[in-house]
Amino acid sequence: MEMKSNTTKLFLWLLMFFSDTVPFSYENPVRERAIELMQKTRLIDGHNDFVLRLRMLYQNRLSGVNLRELNRTHTNLAKLQAGYVGAQFWSVYVLCSAQNKDAVRLTLEQIDIVKRMCNSYEELEFVTTSQGISDSRRIACLIGIEGGHSIDSSLAALRMYYELGVRYMTLTHSCNTPWSESSSKGRHNFYPNVTGLTKFGKEVVKEMNRLGMMIDLSHTSDSTARDALNTSKAPVIFSHSSAFSICNHSRNVPDDILWQLKKNKGIIMVTFSADILACGREVVNVSTLADHFDYIKKTAGSELIGIGGDYDGVERFPEGLEDVSKYPSLIEELLRRGWSETELKGVLRENFLRVFREVENVRNINGPTGVGESEIPQEEVQNSCRLDLRNPQLQTASSFGFPSVARPFSPTLVILSYLVLYYES
Ligand SMILES: *[C@@H]1O[C@H](CO)[C@@H](O)[C@H](O)[C@H]1NC(C)=O
Ligand SMILES: *[C@@H]1O[C@H](CO)[C@@H](O)[C@H](O)[C@H]1NC(C)=O
Ligand SMILES: *[C@@H]1O[C@H](CO)[C@@H](O)[C@H](O)[C@H]1NC(C)=O
Ligand SMILES: *[C@@H]1O[C@H](CO)[C@@H](O)[C@H](O)[C@H]1NC(C)=O
Ligand SMILES: [Zn+2]
Repeated sequence: MEMKSNTTKLFLWLLMFFSDTVPFSYENPVRERAIELMQKTRLIDGHNDFVLRLRMLYQNRLSGVNLRELNRTHTNLAKLQAGYVGAQFWSVYVLCSAQNKDAVRLTLEQIDIVKRMCNSYEELEFVTTSQGISDSRRIACLIGIEGGHSIDSSLAALRMYYELGVRYMTLTHSCNTPWSESSSKGRHNFYPNVTGLTKFGKEVVKEMNRLGMMIDLSHTSDSTARDALNTSKAPVIFSHSSAFSICNHSRNVPDDILWQLKKNKGIIMVTFSADILACGREVVNVSTLADHFDYIKKTAGSELIGIGGDYDGVERFPEGLEDVSKYPSLIEELLRRGWSETELKGVLRENFLRVFREVENVRNINGPTGVGESEIPQEEVQNSCRLDLRNPQLQTASSFGFPSVARPFSPTLVILSYLVLYYES
């Protein structure tokens, strides 16, 4: 830090004074319009990783923290209110390294923390329907699973998550699952030969349609996204992705998929992560973000667009958008760029509600029949944590190796295995 002259100090002081006050005074009519609009049309945000921070910083011990004024995160309740957030999808993300280990337990623990959080603060309200969002006068809490590894290749586990209130699942995070391909190549070593959605992957999509759980395609590979769009009977979402043509990051959505999404009447909830928006450019600010909005509107229409900040999910955000209180700056910028209030109401809230309602309609049309009973082929999921109760010979992969490896048939082993099963049950 160098010493500053008195004039510089005075100038800086004036600058601070004005930059602090101008946005909230009548001297900035565009800001005023943005705030008025957001008061009437509170934001539905598609993705926030705050509860991952609660695990990392506080081991999910809610009693030790005050979520109203927490400072170590991008998110706290006061900031959500200052950002005019009306509904938040909380991500119950667990690391890819938990795949085939304790991903299911960790996911349940994250669902538990969301429920406890939303039930213990009067600012929040846990909801599971589009009507619930519309009716809520608080910040409506919803749950999204980020990464298909959380279901451990089980449609039954998927159904139970739905019963617990989960309303979207991102088909992959940064690792392939046995049935879906991720956009992050080479980050993890899981199932490198999977491309797009496998046959079982398509069954997962169909079961999500039947349940009324939204299919989220952020983090998936383009082939997975195309397969899911081609399979889903309901609109799909990208809960936190931006435009590939503006920044060619693999997390972003290319034009042909935007067009497919338009036909599907789905939504891309544009994300704020600086790296994904700007591909390494140095200055990243609200203009950079607004460029993605302009581009997607021009390419596929504003009805396709929502907001999925990804706060507390990544480190770097554009200047002026550092935390969840800053959403009005984006709306102000889009107003300046000539977006109409109708378009912006769509972006803030209505486009997402349209998608959610349609997903619920597709569920209602199908009714509760036709429960998915497909199972993933055993040879696609061999791992040391998985028992195969149909074939006692293969009880655990660690003791017996992979089924593709030829093995002599052993009657003694079969009898022993049945005995073990008999006494365990
Ligand atoms: C949060 O930060 C503000 C301003 O920096 C400070 O006054 C406040 O005490 C902090 N609150 C907590 C809980 O750390
Ligand atoms: C979509 O599915 C149909 C069959 O349902 C198939 O003929 C077509 O090739 C698929 N398109 C893509 C892009 O996968
Ligand atoms: C993105 O563009 C840069 C520069 O044109 C190129 O080197 C890079 O390979 C591209 N990346 C992808 C994922 O297309
Ligand atoms: C963002 O940064 C660019 C490049 O420095 C600049 O031209 C633009 O005015 C900035 N936008 C805002 C809203 O400050
Ligand atoms: Zn993510």
